[in-house]
Amino acid sequence: MKASRRKFLTSISMLAAASAMPINQFNFGSKEKLKIALVGTGIRGITFWGKRLVDEYSDILEFVGLCDINPGRLAYGLAYTGAACDTYTDFEKMIRDKQPNLVIVTTKDSNHHQFIIKALEMDCDVLTEKPLTTDEDKCEAILKAEKKSGRNLIVGFNYRWSPYNTKIKELLTNNSIGKLTSVDFHWYLNTYHGASYFRRWHGQMESSGSLWVHKATHHFDLLNWWINSEPSEVFALGDLEFYGKNSSIRGKNCRNCTHKNTCEFYWDINKNTFLKNLYADQEKYDDYIRDNCLFREEINIYDKMSAQVKYANNVQLNYSLTTYSPFEGWRVAFNGTEGRIEAFMDIPYYKNMDISQAEMHTAEMDQSSEDAKEYEPIILHKLWKDFETIEVEMERGGHGGGDQRLQDKMFRTTTIPDPYGRTAGSRDGAMSVLIGIAARKSIESGQAIKISNISSLSPKTSRS
Ligand SMILES: NC(=O)c1ccc[n+]([C@@H]2O[C@H](COP(=O)([O-])OP(=O)(O)OC[C@H]3O[C@@H](n4cnc5c(N)ncnc54)[C@H](O)[C@@H]3O)[C@@H](O)[C@H]2O)c1
Repeated sequence: MKASRRKFLTSISMLAAASAMPINQFNFGSKEKLKIALVGTGIRGITFWGKRLVDEYSDILEFVGLCDINPGRLAYGLAYTGAACDTYTDFEKMIRDKQPNLVIVTTKDSNHHQFIIKALEMDCDVLTEKPLTTDEDKCEAILKAEKKSGRNLIVGFNYRWSPYNTKIKELLTNNSIGKLTSVDFHWYLNTYHGASYFRRWHGQMESSGSLWVHKATHHFDLLNWWINSEPSEVFALGDLEFYGKNSSIRGKNCRNCTHKNTCEFYWDINKNTFLKNLYADQEKYDDYIRDNCLFREEINIYDKMSAQVKYANNVQLNYSLTTYSPFEGWRVAFNGTEGRIEAFMDIPYYKNMDISQAEMHTAEMDQSSEDAKEYEPIILHKLWKDFETIEVEMERGGHGGGDQRLQDKMFRTTTIPDPYGRTAGSRDGAMSVLIGIAARKSIESGQAIKISNISSLSPKTSRS
């Protein structure tokens, strides 16, 4: 094993296991660069993991291969990232030829497992985008492959890294409200961002596992981390009442739709040069349509969802996800034996927001944004006392500043201890998708689903 690889493995395994420990051995840039191969040259792959790593970390890492099934998107991705490497449409050949240290998986959710398992079997460490996977059988196969390989798998949960979410973790870790007993968490996607999931593969259960998995994995991971326990039982409700078959009008896709002058959701992908180059111009290779009709009949995921989750430490969670809200934002409240924490983001009625919902979606998706600092409040209200407002400095772009901090911790500042344990391993990835998978099963069966009935993992009372 080469020196740089050994050092990276030390780092990555400690990140996955216990990021509170200082990682003094880590210095992989000194002799040889970390060799990275990436599969899935879509928007997430080429922006956040591609161009950003090339721009910010080229002194310590290098891309040795990019892979995608779409040769047009692959060629565009290579040029866009600025990586100086070969491209492949055959994943196994790329790994055999290039023997990377780390494989980054950014394909669609339902095939993450194929690349994770193959890369582990071929002696690579793996970083996968969320969600870890889309069903319980794939989840078991991934956990088994990781164990057998002795390699490491981490999940790119960026939301944990936003300063706002970290502050909530700090308040809970410091027992600011005594023993935590229950949590209310409600997430509202607006008619730009929420609708965007119904335009492409995310709208199909077999590709995304539904938003219970694709989107809510972020939320359940935050909750598992904040609550510091693991889910034991899930009861859920859900339906499709707005998108898909529910409209009286529909077309093939927005660009050539006969309803473009009247449909509120009309969107011209060709007005965005980047998206045109990445998707519309590459349709000829694989028929991947990025601006599908939101009202096509084959959409089979839920657009309203709610769940009750019981945790192994007896905390009760009430959760909901809405996908056609007039505004984009979220609310969380934690009840404890000594008080309550309330936190919220982007609720327009709570502050004078000078940004439109469309602009907000653009800013949120901008993975390179270095925008001005903002302050967001968290309310700490102890029993029998007046409430206190804690102002947290944060950014809007790159998932609340979480994107950059996640990468810095992975590649640059790994020796700095993280008392909040923000790096997520395969168990975290599994526990977050298992809630969504259990929620789907609960809706189908009308019964509460025990996590221990769909996984070999036994929920732990305490994560730390
Ligand atoms: N953490 C976050 O905040 C965040 C944000 C956006 C996306 N993501 C995740 O990143 C992943 C990619 O999302 P995206 O929006 O870039 O999707 P995308 O559809 O734009 O890109 C996926 C790419 O994978 C390729 N692909 C699909 N199947 C393949 C196969 N069998 N072999 C090789 N290539 C294949 C497609 O051609 C496409 O280029 C998803 O898992 C998504 O959940 C995470």
